Amino acid sequence: MIGAGPSGLAQLRAFQSAKAKGAEIPEVVCYEKQSNWGGLWNYTWRTGLDEHGEPVHCSMYRYLWSNGPKEGLEFADYSFEEHFGRPIASYPPRAVMFDYIEGRVNKAGVRDWIRFCHVARRITYDKATEKFTVIVEDLVNDREITEEFDWVVVASGHFSIPNVPEFSGFDTFNGRVLHAHDFRDAREFTGKDVLLIGTSYSAEDIGSQLWKYGAKSITVAHRTAPMGFKWPENWKEVPILEKVQGNIATFKDGTTMRVDAIILCTGYQHHFPFLADDLRLRTKNRLAAADLYKGVVYVTNPKLFYLGMQDQWYTFNMFDAQAWYVRDVILGRIQVPASDEERRADVKAREAAEDACADSHEAIEYQGAYVQELIDLTDYPSFDIKGANEAFFEWKDHKKQDIMGFRNHAYRSVMTGTMAPVHHTPWKDALEDSLESYLRTEPEPSSLQEAS
Ligand SMILES: Cc1cc2nc3c(=O)[nH]c(=O)nc-3n(C[C@H](O)[C@H](O)[C@H](O)COP(=O)(O)OP(=O)(O)OC[C@H]3O[C@@H](n4cnc5c(N)ncnc54)[C@H](O)[C@@H]3O)c2cc1C
Ligand SMILES: NC(=O)c1ccc[n+]([C@@H]2O[C@H](COP(=O)([O-])OP(=O)(O)OC[C@H]3O[C@@H](n4cnc5c(N)ncnc54)[C@H](OP(=O)(O)O)[C@@H]3O)[C@@H](O)[C@H]2O)c1
Repeated sequence: MIGAGPSGLAQLRAFQSAKAKGAEIPEVVCYEKQSNWGGLWNYTWRTGLDEHGEPVHCSMYRYLWSNGPKEGLEFADYSFEEHFGRPIASYPPRAVMFDYIEGRVNKAGVRDWIRFCHVARRITYDKATEKFTVIVEDLVNDREITEEFDWVVVASGHFSIPNVPEFSGFDTFNGRVLHAHDFRDAREFTGKDVLLIGTSYSAEDIGSQLWKYGAKSITVAHRTAPMGFKWPENWKEVPILEKVQGNIATFKDGTTMRVDAIILCTGYQHHFPFLADDLRLRTKNRLAAADLYKGVVYVTNPKLFYLGMQDQWYTFNMFDAQAWYVRDVILGRIQVPASDEERRADVKAREAAEDACADSHEAIEYQGAYVQELIDLTDYPSFDIKGANEAFFEWKDHKKQDIMGFRNHAYRSVMTGTMAPVHHTPWKDALEDSLESYLRTEPEPSSLQEAS
């Protein structure tokens, strides 16, 4: 296995769960290039290269809160209520989410299966022996290790290697240009006029951070269409950037403005430099990822699996559904069709069904149905997918009503049936967002103050 983020950890938990129920499982080895688990949720202040000279994986930032309700992503075998001992509010900050992710795998006791600070360098497949050769580097001891495996699960994520377009004049811009991947602390931009390029979650959420922590103005440039929310007064949407000269940005409609910084919220690339050409997934960021039977089995080599490679409405419980399915293929409990054609036909049908979705509601239902399809094939605890879809629909309505206030809402858990409490402090005022502060049941007088 490659990667110990939420997807890789789901795979470890799936195997541990089968073992606990008495199944014989193969030896499981997970290589993780970071020194801890959690994937993107393993926050670091670092950007660029890490202490070993490896690209920093983290794309998250200091004041990030869950952008969707936690009721849509809850583990079916480990509820938030079980972890925290009581119901908590619906949009946890990053540190609270990390604590929850870690809680389940601590309980499962799978840490020993992970080799931390081991980066996958090269994976090849030998048709004659039907084995994978995996070359990893032990970053701490500066040693290369070669091992053979019967199966490989790639869970290395796809929101870490940035897509970085260039616009005319960037090389002489008199301010900072950065990609969302390298954004860490909104306070750096307090009092500044900031231009964001892109109209998806990074643009929406980084813009919201900038607003919350006192940027002077936020301008978002779109290539296709504006986001169209009811923005605060100092936030506007403009057509795509044409060029910058000095600090002056010129947009496609000819309008200009002075900007201090530019943040490219232009998405990420599926990037697998460690996989041989014939094993490498090449897909767009879409719900029906290319070349993956049932969204996980590599069409041309069904001993190779990819987890979490889809664009994501559902996250943690979808990764679980995938991991349980992959586990059962490896354990011989599920048979994958023998021919490439049959596997490819499954992919084509998924792509066509996604293309037929008329709007985001249908897209949510589409991914919910996919999660249900996989759950029905394994012993992963079934849950009310319709209810989870509803939480996403409500979330979208709440964003339409008030884009700076949607995180003040609460939703019902589809795992426990418990209604979440409303958070003690409105999101816009909760400048201090540590785990301790979020878990308080009452606002502390200092929650409205500057974080120390
Ligand atoms: C800014 C941002 C905010 C997000 N916010 C939310 C949110 O609020 N709610 C939500 O549900 N989802 C959110 N997501 C989506 C996110 O994709 C998932 O929550 C989740 O982290 C995906 O898990 P993963 O394990 O598939 O990938 P990742 O979390 O990316 O983990 C992949 C792991 O693989 C390791 N790895 C990579 N390459 C190698 C290699 N060559 N060798 C060894 N190890 C390697 C990495 O170090 C990492 O630990 C967000 C994503 C981004 C970018
Ligand atoms: N708080 C949070 O939880 C949080 C915060 C941020 C991100 N996230 C997660 O991070 C993931 C990635 O989101 P993302 O917004 O980074 O990526 P994304 O959803 O892939 O969106 C990429 C955006 O970049 C634009 N773009 C790409 N190339 C461009 C170019 N050359 N010129 C102009 N625009 C360009 C796209 O515009 P077009 O529409 O024109 O293609 C699109 O708006 C999502 O899963 C999201 O949920 C979560």
